[in-house]
Amino acid sequence: MVLGIESSCDETGAGLVRGGVLLGQAVASSMDEHARYRGVVPEIAARAHVHAVAPVVRVALDRAGLALADVGAVAVTTGPGLAGALQVGVAAAKAYAFSLGVPLYGVHHLAGHVAAATLDGGPLPDPCVVLIVSGGHTSLLLVRDLARDPILHLGDTLDDAAGECFDKVARILGLPYPGGPAIDRAARTGDPTAVRLPRPLTGPRDDPYAFSFSGLKTAAARWVEAQPEPHVPDAAAALQEAVADVLTRKAVRACTDHGIGTLVVVGGVAANSRLRALAEQRCAAAGITLRVPPLRLCTDNGAMVAAIGDLLVRSGAEPAPARLSVDPSAPL
Ligand code: KG4
Ligand code: ZN
Repeated sequence: MVLGIESSCDETGAGLVRGGVLLGQAVASSMDEHARYRGVVPEIAARAHVHAVAPVVRVALDRAGLALADVGAVAVTTGPGLAGALQVGVAAAKAYAFSLGVPLYGVHHLAGHVAAATLDGGPLPDPCVVLIVSGGHTSLLLVRDLARDPILHLGDTLDDAAGECFDKVARILGLPYPGGPAIDRAARTGDPTAVRLPRPLTGPRDDPYAFSFSGLKTAAARWVEAQPEPHVPDAAAALQEAVADVLTRKAVRACTDHGIGTLVVVGGVAANSRLRALAEQRCAAAGITLRVPPLRLCTDNGAMVAAIGDLLVRSGAEPAPARLSVDPSAPL
């Protein structure tokens, strides 16, 4: 059984996976402590991980009805993420692995997000296209065997991540942090056609798989400035529509261009209701199977780290050396 520990940003997560099956997980978030700064404060996040890491491991074990002695390997996110935050998770993972005498695996945060999808609906088909959309990343990936083959980047954002765009525009609109869920809620009563927003990088000469979201933020800011009384739900609905439109258009195109029948959407922004609906609609129209894991597996969590750790263990991968360290700006 693999214990996974995640601490790259503001969530401290622990998860337990055996043979591709999720046995238990727990997540603690320091989000409330960052809210008044309207963004994650690295020092606060690191301190919160110190307090939360042992309790979340305890709770995950309790939920699974298991004990520390049942842990056969430990996996931990080494990057990308906040250096101090990552260090807490890696130090804890080493302590568990060495005290239990079990192997330790360092894993990539994004590989974890992809692996989370295997905990809902089983192994991913080889190959598949994965759209990762979170506060820090927006990437279209071509995934083969997660434990053995390198993940191929088809395209990435050239500037802001989709979640960052939601968070920044929410701030402009005076909505609470984190902005994504606030935009999603506000958009329910808005008219997406009331505000005209661009669809960046969707021209015939643009890179079909690259994204750009910083222009949307500027367009939204200009619109707000030009309104005597900006109608927040309309702006939220229009932004959500623009982001979901671009993401799903490019993701479906990546599948059809490569003759791939499955699209997987992971990361915190996969929680977005319009993104989910549009992805379902467009995948159905193109004959593509869509897999979006449940919300608790989409946002940062320890189960995803345990999932990739479990795949590594089962593929016979080499454990990490004792000097395993963090890699805050890890490339995929
Ligand atoms: O994957 P995640 O929990 O953390 C990382 O960034 O790695 O993603 C967090 C991001 C935030 O930007 C948040 O605003 C966004 O996901 N998010 C959403 C929704 N729920 C969370 N964005 C749009 N709609 C949502 N419902
Ligand atoms: Zn993440």
